[in-house]
Amino acid sequence: MIKRFFDWLKKPLGLIAVGITFLALFSLAAYGISLSQQPPAQPVQFPHRIHIGFGIQCLYCHPGAAKGPSAGIPAEARCWGCHNQIVKTQTSLLLKPLKDSVISGKPLQWVPVAQVPDFVQFNHRAHIAAGQNCENCHGDMSKMTVAENPQIFNMGFCLKCHTKVAGENHDLLVKLTDCGTCHY
Ligand code: HEC
Ligand code: HEC
Ligand code: HEC
Ligand code: HEC
Ligand code: HEC
Repeated sequence: MIKRFFDWLKKPLGLIAVGITFLALFSLAAYGISLSQQPPAQPVQFPHRIHIGFGIQCLYCHPGAAKGPSAGIPAEARCWGCHNQIVKTQTSLLLKPLKDSVISGKPLQWVPVAQVPDFVQFNHRAHIAAGQNCENCHGDMSKMTVAENPQIFNMGFCLKCHTKVAGENHDLLVKLTDCGTCHY
């Protein structure tokens, strides 16, 4: 029985069946990967696109980026400063969770998307002070609704830019590629 099956596999029809099975498994895997790269469900479908389109600066909502290690997510009070004056806030279903949060005092639970593991030291301030744009690392947020992570923050991602930034400056290259600069 098994042998007959294998003989059949070698015939044209069998080969086609093998091909189809292979393609099906492949697309299933591709679908799985695409799912795992979709942004997580957020409490509010916060549209970066719309807010950046109004000319609101990144640092208005993420001021920590210029001051220290983390950029921070704005508190509801910051949203409300504008939204309590915007007519649409009263009727928009998208804004209902924000309104509920302000009334109840329960903060929105945003799910982080841009992260490095705990054993990596990353400080926004040093990068902003050195003239790096948010876009260099986070991609073009003006096209996004909720934040997505366009690239994985692995070691290669950091080192590629550090090597480029250092250029001919040997001392800087040593500093920016030293294990102890990012792991301590
Ligand atoms: C500087 C002012 C300002 C701040 C701060 C602000 N928004 Fe907005 N937001 C707007 C404006 C203006 C619109 C567009 C309203 C319209 O279409 O009439 C908008 C639209 C939205 C929408 C889409 C609503 C819809 O139904 O289309 C959501 C959701 C939203 N804001 C959430 C937030 C959240 C959450 C925060 C805080 C993290 C925030 N906003 C902070 C000005 C602001
Ligand atoms: C009106 C406020 C507002 C403005 C302006 C804004 N953001 Fe945000 N940002 C948010 C909120 C709220 C979240 C959390 C929801 C999410 O992850 O989409 C967020 C999330 C992010 C995240 C993911 C954070 C995480 O938890 O991993 C990044 C990266 C980011 N913003 C970058 C930017 C950049 C770059 C700009 C300017 C081009 C910008 N933001 C402008 C409110 C804002
Ligand atoms: C050199 C690359 C780089 C630049 C430039 C950069 N970021 Fe980040 N950002 C990161 C990395 C890496 C993380 C993850 C940090 C962590 O897990 O501690 C992150 C995390 C974030 C987060 C979520 C966690 C947090 O720190 O609160 C926000 C929001 C954010 N960045 C916003 C911004 C904004 C706004 C700018 C520009 C003013 C900016 N970033 C510039 C690399 C960068
Ligand atoms: C787009 C370019 C770019 C990327 C990507 C980048 N860096 Fe940097 N990094 C810089 C620049 C520029 C400096 C400042 C160099 C100088 O001192 O002149 C710097 C400096 C540093 C420093 C030393 C300053 C300090 O905070 O003590 C650390 C640590 C660091 N980066 C960590 C990281 C890590 C971790 C990542 C990846 C998650 C990363 N960087 C990704 C450009 C980048
Ligand atoms: C510019 C910053 C930077 C420098 C310099 C750096 N690393 Fe890393 N390293 C990272 C980041 C970011 C990660 C997180 C990788 C991830 O999440 O996939 C990491 C991860 C690691 C890991 C864990 C790997 C894994 O697969 O989980 C090891 C081990 C490591 N680094 C060792 C080193 C050694 C040894 C050096 C010196 C030769 C070094 N690193 C220099 C940024 C850096």
